[in-house]
Amino acid sequence: MQPVVVPPGADLPALSAAAADCRGCDLAELPGTRTVFGAGPARTWLVVVGEQPGDVEDRRGQPFVGPAGKLLDRALGEAGLDRAELYATNAVKHFGYRTGNGPRRIHQTPQARHITACRPWLAAELNVIRPSLVVVLGATAGASLLGPSFRVTRMRGRLLPGPPGSNAQLLATLHPSAVLRADPASRDEVYGGFVADLRIAAAARP
Ligand code: URA
Repeated sequence: MQPVVVPPGADLPALSAAAADCRGCDLAELPGTRTVFGAGPARTWLVVVGEQPGDVEDRRGQPFVGPAGKLLDRALGEAGLDRAELYATNAVKHFGYRTGNGPRRIHQTPQARHITACRPWLAAELNVIRPSLVVVLGATAGASLLGPSFRVTRMRGRLLPGPPGSNAQLLATLHPSAVLRADPASRDEVYGGFVADLRIAAAARP
């Protein structure tokens, strides 16, 4: 592992290029993975922060292009938001996985050390974009931006101050994977709650 060095004054393409060589945590040592940096316009009012790229994102090198991304896009649309207007990124920029008996790469939730190691990249993205709203999808993104006491269930669905050092407001909601994992009997309700939270974000559009 090597120290994370964020080039000072870098724009998003330069940050992305520097992050591609990041060896700041053990996820970078996992075979076949790469840094998946954020994507979207640099001039935008809205940044959406997820957990970490999944298997599909790692293969394609883009955030939120797999099943969770498709659900996110649908929910954004229903809430009156357009994926093209926002910058999407992750708290942790490498896919973390374990293997079982077969070739399938099984997602592993990032640990505190991965969140800490990757935080300078997220902070640099927010510092370049300076959005007026940051939407936090789930516990990992919340822990990265608000600390380990963050709880989605307690803090979701209302505008909060933060992250420290920025003028942005913050809106926490579920991670789209939580909707995909929900019990089929309650999935529509969970999805409806997710869209309702995103409508609060839409209403904060300047
Ligand atoms: N889940 C995330 O948190 N981020 C992605 O980019 C994809 C799935």
